[in-house]
Amino acid sequence: MSKILITGGCGYIGSHTIVDLIENGFEVISIDNLSNSSEFTMHGVEKITGKKVINHNIDLCDFEKLNLFFENNQDIKGIIHFAALKSVGDSVSNPIGYFENNLYSLLNLLKCMNLHQINNFIFSSSCSVYGNADELPVTESTPFKEAESPYARTKQMGEQILQDFVRSHHQVKSIALRYFNPAGAHHSIEIGESSRNIANNLVPVITETAIGKRTTMTVFGKDYHTRDGSCIRDYIHVSDIAHAHTLAIDHLLNQQNAPNFDVFNLGNGEGVTVLEAIKAFENESNVKLNYQLGERRDGDVVAIYANNHKAEKILNWMPKYSINDIMKTAWLWEKKRSNKD
Ligand code: NAD
Ligand code: WQD
Repeated sequence: MSKILITGGCGYIGSHTIVDLIENGFEVISIDNLSNSSEFTMHGVEKITGKKVINHNIDLCDFEKLNLFFENNQDIKGIIHFAALKSVGDSVSNPIGYFENNLYSLLNLLKCMNLHQINNFIFSSSCSVYGNADELPVTESTPFKEAESPYARTKQMGEQILQDFVRSHHQVKSIALRYFNPAGAHHSIEIGESSRNIANNLVPVITETAIGKRTTMTVFGKDYHTRDGSCIRDYIHVSDIAHAHTLAIDHLLNQQNAPNFDVFNLGNGEGVTVLEAIKAFENESNVKLNYQLGERRDGDVVAIYANNHKAEKILNWMPKYSINDIMKTAWLWEKKRSNKD
């Protein structure tokens, strides 16, 4: 039973991944400074898995504390690094904060891997590394364009730092997983997205509007050159994303011939417009959403979706859930956390 460190384990994708790892026989330990989450998440994890997961409240930017953690936990076989600040808009107003948090965290972890002989590392990357891509769907070899935000730049830089690191540390293997638009909640509805920060992503905005936390919402843009004038994205269920991490860490631990650095797209491979997403929500919830068509949002790309064949071929990963499953679980989660069951 290999022990895996999850950074950001109390967060949205980290907590779903912990569940999937436990269900597949891994032992996990978490570090999360709770800047965008709460340890309450671990109760949900325990309800699903029957296992208590310990979270260490450490800021990954604090090298001394992090190093001490590794001194006290010598049996870690791999790291899945989720912890980061993730709001695109905030990163535009606070670029230094984003570079500090996201890059120092990564650098400190790599230094500790070196000091404590941990050789397997998975990095949460993002489709935002592609910027405004020229070709669709994007494959892993679609070139990076200019980052649209400091947040996206931290992901581009994170991947580049990892590539340099593995080049000079031949024993280390690393995978960057580029998530498209993760959404939805665990089918048990014990865990889901519960950021401290205000949600700006489409699916939580939809559910918060439907439940009445917001009176209305805006569809950003109505005259794009798409089938209904709204933007196209690749929404992928968080449990599908979570399972890809289990497959990826297993791949690193067990495939002797895995390259030192590899990258995989994690998307459904299908583009869905904003209006189609709203329709899927209305069908699943039987709630009529109060929305209006509005202006385009600065920095939005018109359309992006994944070619996910590489993850299927090499990791044997196949997404199981559809946009309807995403909306159904997101809505049940919203009702639960708003006590409106
Ligand atoms: P999240 O905010 O729910 O989880 C991240 C966790 O990291 C939080 O619990 C936060 O408290 C913790 N954290 C942040 N900085 C830390 C630090 N310095 N030390 C210790 N803990 C720290 O976010 P998420 O949606 O679960 O995202 C996980 C990862 O996936 C992030 O790296 C994010 O950039 C990436 N990602 C997310 C999405 C998305 O839409 N959710 C898409 C692509 C990539
Ligand atoms: C999706 C679509 C909006 C809110 C971001 C990051 C990306 C990744 C995923 C981290 C867009 C439209 C949204 C609203 C709307 N995260 N929308 N009204 O921008 O595709 O991607 O999250 O790595 O890096 O950039 O996601 O959920 O904000 O938007 O019409 O109130 O929904 O215009 O077309 P996005 P999103």
